[in-house]
Parts: sequence; C-alpha cells; structure tokens
Amino acid sequence: MVNAVLSNAVQYADSKQLDLKLLFHHHNENVEQYRNGIEKATEKVVQFLSERQAPFSGITPEELKPLFDGISLEETPLSLDETLEELQAVYLDHAVAFHLPKYAAHLNCPVVIPSLIAEQILSAINSSLDTWDQSAGGTLIEQKIIEWTAERIGFLSGDGVFTSGGSQSNLMATLLMRDHFMHTKLKHNVTFKGLPNGLSSPKIFCSEHSHFSLKKSASLLGLGEDAVIGVPTDQYFRMDIGVLEELIKREVEQGNHPIGIVATAGTTDYGSIDPIPEMAQIACKYDIWLHVDAAVGGGLLLSDRYRYLIDGIELADSVTVDYHKTYFQTVSCSAFVVKRPETLHLISYHADYLNPKEQRDTGIPNQVDKSLQTTRRFDALKVWTTLRMMGRMQLGHYYDKTLELTKAAAALIEAHPSFELLNPPVLHSLVFRFKIDGFDNEDWGHINLQIRKALLRCGSAVIAGTKNNGDTYLKFTVLNPMATEADFEKILALIEAKGKMILFEQA
Ligand SMILES: Cc1ncc(COP(=O)(O)O)c(C=O)c1O
Repeated sequence: MVNAVLSNAVQYADSKQLDLKLLFHHHNENVEQYRNGIEKATEKVVQFLSERQAPFSGITPEELKPLFDGISLEETPLSLDETLEELQAVYLDHAVAFHLPKYAAHLNCPVVIPSLIAEQILSAINSSLDTWDQSAGGTLIEQKIIEWTAERIGFLSGDGVFTSGGSQSNLMATLLMRDHFMHTKLKHNVTFKGLPNGLSSPKIFCSEHSHFSLKKSASLLGLGEDAVIGVPTDQYFRMDIGVLEELIKREVEQGNHPIGIVATAGTTDYGSIDPIPEMAQIACKYDIWLHVDAAVGGGLLLSDRYRYLIDGIELADSVTVDYHKTYFQTVSCSAFVVKRPETLHLISYHADYLNPKEQRDTGIPNQVDKSLQTTRRFDALKVWTTLRMMGRMQLGHYYDKTLELTKAAAALIEAHPSFELLNPPVLHSLVFRFKIDGFDNEDWGHINLQIRKALLRCGSAVIAGTKNNGDTYLKFTVLNPMATEADFEKILALIEAKGKMILFEQA
C-alpha cells in the first residue's frame, strides 16, 4: 500500500517535472506570483466586505455539505483563480460577517487595518515565538506588549506570554494556582511527581457565571470539575462576596484546600464585573491565588473613561486579556500576565535542542520558558502595529463607543413594550426576551428559541441566545463601534416581527 502511494507520488512528480521553485514565495522569480496571489485574495475580501448585505446567508450544514462531497483533495491541483472560485462557493458566500452592524451575537469584533497588515507580515515571515533564535526582534516585541499590558493593569514588574485565547490563558492560571499551592504550602513537587496521594480536594472559587474553560482546566489538571465551586451572584450577576467567604470556610472545615479565587471582569453572558477589591482582600486573608479573567473586560485597560470599572485588578496574581475580543484584533490574540515573573518558573521546561537550561541565566530570552505551546504564532505583532498606528487613546475611544452603544441598545430594549431586559448594561452583553402582555400562558422560552432559529435561517441579523434559570433568552453582544442605535432598532423590529409571527401561528 505504502509502496503504491510512493510510486504514484514519484510518477506524479515525474509527469509534472515537479518544480520546487513553483510556489515558494522566497524564490526571486516568484515575487510577482506572490504579489498577485495576495492581491487577488485581498480582492476577494474586498468583494466580501463591499457586496455582503446580511451577516449570514442562512445556510444549514445539510445544504452546504454536498458541496464538499464533490471535492477530492487527491485531484490534480487547481489554479489560483479556480481555488478562489471554489472557496467562494464553499466558504465566502456563507461566512458569517462580523463587520456588519446587524451581527451582534458572540464575542467577535470587527478588525482594524493595522491588525490585518501585521497578519500579512507575521504569516509571510513566519517567525516562531518559542525561542530567540527563531524570532529575534519578534520576542522583544512580544515582551514589550506584555510589559505594556502589565503596566496598564498596574503590575510594577509583571511578565507573561501570548496565548491562543482566553481558554488557554485560564488554563495557565489554573495550572499556576495548583502548582503554586503544591510547591509553597505542601512542599510537594507536583510538576515532577503529579498529584499527591490522599490529598484532600483543592478548591477554586469563581462566580457561577464564570467561563466554562475554568472547569475544563480543572478537569485537565487532574483536579476534577468538582474542584471549581460556582459562587452565587447578586441581582446584577456579580459574585456575592458574603457567600464566597462562607463557602471558603465550609471547605476549610471539611478539610479541603482553597487554592485560588477567580474574579471575572466581564462575564460572557451578562458582562458583569465581580467585586475585584473585595475578592482580593479575601484571597489575601486566606493566602491564596487571585486570578482575574478579563478576557472580556480587558478592553477597559484601553479606556480613560471606564478604566475605573476594573479598579483592583492590580491586586491580582494573574490576569487573562483577550485582544481578539475587545482590541479589534484578528483571532488569535490573547495574553496571560502575572504580577510576579518568578511564578512562571513553575511551568518552565527545558530541552537541549531548544532552550537549554544553561541559557536561562545568560539573558537570552526564550518565551517558550513561560508557555504551554512550543511553536507559536507572532500574534503580538498585531497589537504592536495597532498601537503604533492608532495609539492607545484612539483604540480606547473605539472601545468606549461599544460600551456607549451597549447602553443605548439597553435603553431601546427597556423602552420597548415587546421586550424584557434581564441585566443592566455594564460591558457588551445584553440578555433579553420577546414577551408581550396578554399572553399569560405562553412558553416564552420556547418562543424565543424559535425566534433565534428563524433569525439565523433568514440571516438578516445574527444574535445569540443563552439560558437563565432554564429559560431561553436572546443575547446581544455589542462590539462593533461602527454600528448605530438605528441598527439596533432595526434588529429589534426584526425580532419583534418574528416573535409575533410565531405567537400568532401557534395560536
Ligand atoms: C469570560 C471569558 N473567559 C474566557 C473565554 C475564552 O476565550 P477564548 O474563546 O478566546 O478561548 C471567554 C470566551 O468567550 C470568556 O467570555
């Protein structure tokens, strides 16, 4: 079998007189081909941006899949034009357009031009940020962006690393919490020996509305999901501090070990911000790690007007910041930042071929010493280019605009007789439902679920949904500073029309 494949490959190479110069952009005869390819690809994007009217085509997986069935990846290769044409059909015609003002579903932001320029450079040069000898200035750029982020947080001499996203940053936080506790309190080298036998359960406390990546991390780290205790929230979806302390005491009484607290600065569904200063006091009292998951609220670090909303973040031991959510950056672009650089040594690994131990004290900066990944994209370049071309203040104004638009959209929902708003506007998320008086026996959860399905099928607006106490609600995530109040009026009118149609059809 293997021989047959190899012989086919050889025959193919012979028949095509395989020319290695053909598709590498570094060959000096290919400069025009490279430029032409990038220009044509850019044209496709420009067409997508200028011609697309609705955020989604409404296509279903059943409708799109047959197009893939007819494609064999073993076929003779296509030309650039043919490849782009095929891509138009299988992807671009139906890709969800985050830049359109009627996209208000998940935590996807429209992206700024400097980020796209940087993508072009970072993918073409293809530096890998694990070691100095694969990146040189790239490593220093990443370190400078981390330093800047740490300063905005209020860490005097923080450190950190870029990650693939908020989930990986939260995994790093959970890992450090676990290892810091084991090393300092139990004098147990968990890195080498694994979890100690007979250990009473380590416990991590976070709001019941915190992101599911924390439970996933606890499970991956051998602590079990059970280690994550969801603390109830107040009427504004912020952690109830009184209950937090009660739960910590209860665990201590049961012989368990509290190892960390996670404050969410911007919950995924409600945009609520936990009371960070009070949580920091409790973390200090019990001498445990405080992590702030600012995957969403990290954008406040840009804002002069609203930065106060995360006062106290500087008291954390570590912070998650997702530039790909609120800094208008392309995916992926995120960071994990710590207050004390030495805590990152807990997760350092060395390989002779890559970052030998003896290099550690020579001043050669190898970011892999601090990362869960080895080969790693140069995502920091996007934040760098954005800050250099726009400046922090302009980026901050864009960010402020999204907060102000969220407030305006909330006011529209509140004033509308057909809608009920569940949460006050804090950051970008608004949870609400279609509900009108005089239909007391209706299953509003079901009707709102149907509305969301109908809206996705028509594609003229894309919104999200979630559940509160088991009931389905609708959700706006407002991250487009170019959207307007009028866009939200139109989306609400669409939702109302769909809601009334469903209501009267089932009457
Ligand atoms: C509060 C919060 N933390 C973490 C994450 C995970 O981020 P990512 O999707 O970049 O892994 C999210 C994603 O929505 C989030 O809302």
